[in-house]
Amino acid sequence: MASQTVSSGQKPHVVCVPFPAQGHINPMLQVAKLLHAKGFHVTFANTIYNHKRLLRSRGSNALNVLPSFRYESIPDGLPETNKDATQDVPPLCASTKKNCLAPFKELLTRINTADDVPPVSCIVSDGIMSFTLDAAEELGVPDVVFWTTSACGFLAYLHFYCFVEKGLSPQKDESKEHLETKIDWIPSMKNLRLKDIPSFIRTTNPDDIMLNFFVHEADRVKRASAIILNTFDDLEHDTIQSIKSIIPQVHSIGPLQLLVNQKMDKDSEIGQMATNLWKEERECLDWLDTKSPNSVVYVNFGSITVMSAKHLMEFAWGLAATKKDFLWVIRPDLVDGDVAVVPPEFLIETADRRMLASWCPQEKVLSHPAVGGFLTHSGWNSTLESLSSGVPMVCWPFFAEQQTNCKYCCDEWEVGMEISGDVRREEVEELVRELMDGDKGKKMREKAEEWRRLAEEATKHMLGSSELNFQMVVDKVLLRA
Ligand code: UDX
Repeated sequence: MASQTVSSGQKPHVVCVPFPAQGHINPMLQVAKLLHAKGFHVTFANTIYNHKRLLRSRGSNALNVLPSFRYESIPDGLPETNKDATQDVPPLCASTKKNCLAPFKELLTRINTADDVPPVSCIVSDGIMSFTLDAAEELGVPDVVFWTTSACGFLAYLHFYCFVEKGLSPQKDESKEHLETKIDWIPSMKNLRLKDIPSFIRTTNPDDIMLNFFVHEADRVKRASAIILNTFDDLEHDTIQSIKSIIPQVHSIGPLQLLVNQKMDKDSEIGQMATNLWKEERECLDWLDTKSPNSVVYVNFGSITVMSAKHLMEFAWGLAATKKDFLWVIRPDLVDGDVAVVPPEFLIETADRRMLASWCPQEKVLSHPAVGGFLTHSGWNSTLESLSSGVPMVCWPFFAEQQTNCKYCCDEWEVGMEISGDVRREEVEELVRELMDGDKGKKMREKAEEWRRLAEEATKHMLGSSELNFQMVVDKVLLRA
């Protein structure tokens, strides 16, 4: 394929390629919106499976409403029978790595031979969809890689190969003491234990899909034209510097949600564009409108977390015992291998002070004045959305870099308290009460408010560090000026 550059008079054309999971698609859409606002023609390439889900949740006319922002799709390579669960991440990683390059190249050829769109001039792809780098190199266009986790999560992934070299992974010892092993050799990372490193390190299997996948992807991203992170300099300064010593072309451009809100009219077609794989229940916002400031506990474990039926009960009865108002989002597939249902006695006991939903407009919920605390799985988007709204957290990390996010929330950013993995109702009650009414909760709320203010500053028009970094990536990398 011939090298492409942006010729005068033609719009630059970016192809955005998210990893096919909600926590990756959302921030990629924000990048795509920002690029569209800067005059790019955008192609947003979901997997066919997610494309169909979006059509179902948004309505078949809701996607391709703008001629300069088009949704396309490529197969993820998984058999149809393997697709009902959102949680089955390892087969999805293995399949996209093995199967997506060929259809992606076909998509690029199809776009470049169409006469109604400008030729592809750059790619922005998820860090764990690194097959795109081969296609970009062949086409002669820049590929900006978007690693969608925290910088601390990314730095840990960049060192996965060292864990293997040092014999710390795959694990030979599964004891609790071993998990407490100090990790003090990653520059800028202080007071970490093995259990704070992204979960994929904790395997005993040398052929583990996720361990090998992350060693591989974290190495390949070094080839990217630039790497962007959804974080901001004040929050993760030392970590970002530590990453820069390995990969100089890394840039913090977050919180993306604040950049988007600042640049976009919410009621415009592009402002309204959303990529929820589940149908949003907006009644949550009406319910929150009836509550007083900082009075509601918001509970949501993201898009992939699964728990046992026993843990669901512990959370339910723990929340009931707090006597606080709460909004709890229970995805239908939240319970491992079963339908997530709470007992009728719990529903009766909490009837006048709870709202249950299966998916909500989370950003709006977190920025609602009634929400005073967040019981979360510490997914990076949720964490950043909470910080951007000044909401303190109780953290129940599930997998991936959520353990690292939780550690930083509790110790570095002072906005979180961790709850035990094998959670019990008494602990839920105690920590949620502390979060909402205790001295520690008050301090965490003040600290979260400080981060909210700094996040606003980072995204300030023409002045903020993230805003300037984003502009630089556009001018110097995507437009190749
Ligand atoms: C996972 C990991 O948690 C995350 O750390 C990793 O970087 C990507 O994969 P997920 O479980 O989806 O992601 O959590 P999170 O990163 O918090 O993303 C969830 C997204 O869905 C957020 O943007 C959140 O606002 C949105 N959401 C979630 C809703 O809009 N409504 C809901 O009810 C739940």
